[in-house]
Amino acid sequence: MIMKTFDNEFTRREFIRKNSLIGAGAALSLGTANKLFAVNTGDASLPAILGGTKAVKSHDWPGWPIWKPEVDEELLIKSVRSGIWSRDKLVTEFERKWAELIGTKRCLAVVNGTNALNAALSQFEIGWGDEVLVTPYTFIASVSCIVFTGAIPVFVDVDPETFQMDPEKIEAKITPNTKAIIPVHILGLPCDMDRIMQIAKKHDLLVVEDACQAWLAEINHKKVGSFGNAGCFSFQNSKNIPMGEGGAIVSDDDEFMDRCFSHHNYGNPYGTAAGEIGSGTVRIGTKLRLAEYQAAIGLAQMERFIGQTETRNKRAEYLKSKIGKVPGIVPYRLYENVTKAAFYLFPFLYKTEDFGNLPRSKFIAAMNAEGVPCYSGYTELNKMPFIKNAFESRFYKKFYSKDQLDYERYMAKNQCPNNERLCNEMAVWIPQNVLLGSTNDMDNIANAIEKIYQNVEKVGEKLK
Ligand SMILES: Cc1ncc(COP(=O)(O)O)c(C=O)c1O
Repeated sequence: MIMKTFDNEFTRREFIRKNSLIGAGAALSLGTANKLFAVNTGDASLPAILGGTKAVKSHDWPGWPIWKPEVDEELLIKSVRSGIWSRDKLVTEFERKWAELIGTKRCLAVVNGTNALNAALSQFEIGWGDEVLVTPYTFIASVSCIVFTGAIPVFVDVDPETFQMDPEKIEAKITPNTKAIIPVHILGLPCDMDRIMQIAKKHDLLVVEDACQAWLAEINHKKVGSFGNAGCFSFQNSKNIPMGEGGAIVSDDDEFMDRCFSHHNYGNPYGTAAGEIGSGTVRIGTKLRLAEYQAAIGLAQMERFIGQTETRNKRAEYLKSKIGKVPGIVPYRLYENVTKAAFYLFPFLYKTEDFGNLPRSKFIAAMNAEGVPCYSGYTELNKMPFIKNAFESRFYKKFYSKDQLDYERYMAKNQCPNNERLCNEMAVWIPQNVLLGSTNDMDNIANAIEKIYQNVEKVGEKLK
């Protein structure tokens, strides 16, 4: 199955492959951009797409994931050789350390972020008849978890400057059926949690944070994932702390966490989730357990992941200060009280009108030719067919009236014009591993943009 994490041209697998290509020292560029390379004239002021020198020369972006056999393999090998591969001490240790890092009472490791969200929603008993507010600017799992429970996703448009759910647009979407909000700290930039929590409190709504891209991001020094009733994380291969696959639910709510534990272990009793019977299977459960060797991979990276987060923040701030000076380039804006971001991606807005109406796709091709990896990002999630198909399913028809499943009406209510512009015209992403490069690398990225800006007419001609 193709996972459209990124735009039409990119599958997640391609993203990972391309990142590893960078690690191998090969230039990351679109196939089309490669074909468009002119003869290199050695002119450093000319865009590479016009034959100038690449802004990023003989480059070696840090590959991803980073694995250091000399330090990382000891625990992994020990775990594999022990023959204890199913959930045991290492998973528990990872959970303890993750809860400590995020600042929550509890953490439960699960198979991936998708199922962390599914489990959290189901254990808060969100389901048929409920509406859940979510951003359309996200990965599918932030929304499919709502449909998975039988509830109805309601889209809150984004603030394009921050790329996050616009808190000013939340209250207008609340109805008597609204049960929860899923703030997604998309791209690793925190949502405005102070405002979102105020609204949730006022309307008595649950908050499940999708922090699957925002490990260690903070608002007033408090980690995202620890604001709501629960927070969910992903440790998938491209993520800033990768395990191949993996996820976590964090919360201070003991009873909820006991239910989650029981749910992830076939519904077997756990803590307060033992129920009245106290033995045998007590809940509707499934199996979402992380393996020991996955936890060993996660534990091996924990220390350096903290340092990498600091580096990404420094590089992002520097790059932002540089590229923000180019007309038509508007880097992300962080909410005022954000003390740290995670930077799964470095996003900026591209204003085609300031670039002589050069379409975003051509700007990206020119950037790729410079040796700068960047993408156009998400497509419009609120318009994807999965919601219509859910509405047409036997399950939804059983629980909802014809009126409630009137898709045309639903779509009319769920228009998100800001998201539309972000997805189709303006957003550009640079992947996180680039932010592990040097300050000089950031200068080179800024130089690439500047060159394209200065020669935009010729670039447009070349890419016609
Ligand atoms: C915002 C967001 N939510 C949820 C997920 C799902 O995580 P996973 O891929 O671990 O299932 C992802 C991962 O890509 C994500 O980016």
